[in-house]
Amino acid sequence: MTYAFLAIRREGPVEYLTLNRPDVRNAFNEEVIAELTAWTAATREAAAQRDVRVVVLSGAGKTFCAGADVAWMSKTVEFTEEENLRDAMAMSQMFGALDALPVPLVGRVQGAALGGGAGLAAVCDIVVADESALFGFTEVKLGILPAVISPFALAKIGRSAARELFLTGSRFSAARAHEIGLVHAVVPAAELDSTVERYVRELLTGGPEAIASSKALIPQVWGRSLPEAMPMTAAAIARRRVSKEGQEGLRAFLEKRPPSWCKRLFDTVDTKDTEGKKP
Ligand code: COA
Repeated sequence: MTYAFLAIRREGPVEYLTLNRPDVRNAFNEEVIAELTAWTAATREAAAQRDVRVVVLSGAGKTFCAGADVAWMSKTVEFTEEENLRDAMAMSQMFGALDALPVPLVGRVQGAALGGGAGLAAVCDIVVADESALFGFTEVKLGILPAVISPFALAKIGRSAARELFLTGSRFSAARAHEIGLVHAVVPAAELDSTVERYVRELLTGGPEAIASSKALIPQVWGRSLPEAMPMTAAAIARRRVSKEGQEGLRAFLEKRPPSWCKRLFDTVDTKDTEGKKP
């Protein structure tokens, strides 16, 4: 599949997905939304075949993403309310599809992640940010609101930070983004790529099905009472224990050898962890 506004590079089981509209700081319009939605569908299939096990999301040029394209949004004034609703639902589905991707999504943030760009950071499982990057749920400054991204942003930063940041629309530092849980690692620009790669290597040492089920478990358990969660979590671990992958992982540990999903990787990537030990 070819895309006009996305650059894709595959290295072994790692897909590098780059938003590619640097002249407008990777702002997304309806075409970018359609491409990202199509990309998530293709990646779900590639993940099912184990062709893709980790995705790194970044932005071309000096900015990760300036959010929704303001020029495109200003045109929506000519749309009927129904057309606006259809448009907003397409954006909502794109965020939902990225959020539920069955492989880890690692965000690499430089420059700025504003409005929907902060929303993209929120749907990443792991976010590594340049220490000088700026974040912001800036929509109120434009007379709109961070609606579509709110379920994902709230799940990351919680109600208290959202009350401050959604209402003020103020821009905040990578350090603050880290403090509220939007970002997981803040590093100097020169260490951005190596930090992302360290996460990627770590993620490749986990069982692909185990990682996918761990990711799916989080929204299922979140907000449920313990009596509701207990049978669900017991069923989840029982399924994993009897699975081929679970059995292989447990046996490999006892036999003091790397599990099969790591062995296959030795041919394509170096899976040494940060201390230089094989997983
Ligand atoms: N939608 C459409 N175009 C955008 C945009 C957006 N969200 N953000 C930036 N651009 C465009 C600018 O209009 C400018 O276009 P021009 O070259 O034709 O004048 C170009 O991108 C470069 O922007 P500029 O502000 O000069 O770049 P910068 O590197 O100095 O700053 C940002 C980058 C992201 C900090 C700044 O552009 C910004 O604050 N953008 C607004 C972000 C925002 O409020 N997003 C919320 C949307 S809901």
